[in-house]
Amino acid sequence: MDHPLARHFVTHLRDASTKPPLFRTITNHLTVILALEATRDLPLRSVPVQTPLEAVRGEVINGPLVVVPILRAGLGMLASIAELFPDVAVGYLGLERDHTTAQASSYYCKLPPLAGRCTLLVDPMLATGGSACQAIDAVKAAGATDVRLLCVVAAPEGVGEVRRHHPDVPIIGAALDRELNAQKYILPGLGDFGDRLYGTL
Ligand code: PRP
Ligand code: URA
Repeated sequence: MDHPLARHFVTHLRDASTKPPLFRTITNHLTVILALEATRDLPLRSVPVQTPLEAVRGEVINGPLVVVPILRAGLGMLASIAELFPDVAVGYLGLERDHTTAQASSYYCKLPPLAGRCTLLVDPMLATGGSACQAIDAVKAAGATDVRLLCVVAAPEGVGEVRRHHPDVPIIGAALDRELNAQKYILPGLGDFGDRLYGTL
């Protein structure tokens, strides 16, 4: 993202002294910017509307959207999207990386009907891409054909993995970082997003 406000927010998220309450607030703000970018091409439907002065034709978003946060950290991005799109349907995917292997495993999956709907998959960190690819596999298996991945910080490794396995899925990220460390954390990154969001460090 090249919007100055997005860069400003990412810098505050990176700052190790940013405490969970501010971290959550900034995540909400940044998600609004990501959601606007991710939905830039949503189809519109023409509708009649009566202003206080006269009748005119307006446009509304055509069809409901689905948002699927990847638990746990993705939950921090849900509230802003639900506020922007009040009719959104929400699915949940629980994925957790093993601390030693960095392999993600699934512990929860509850998805609404996805066929014919735009699905916003939200997870702030795209590191190896293992979680994102599993999540995309799951929503596609449930019928999604229009999937968009929203993240805060991405590593080149994760972007490559998603592009390889799911070239049809656009990645809307606030920052593209340098690399992963030996423990598969993003550098410079911002640490463990879930821990910083929920104060579980
Ligand atoms: C984090 C993050 C992603 C995943 C990214 O979640 O929110 O889901 O790691 O890593 P990957 O691209 O290498 O798969 P984590 O597994 O730490 O779980 P949490 O959200 O419950 O903290
Ligand atoms: N998950 C995180 O929360 N941070 C990272 O840097 C990598 C995965």
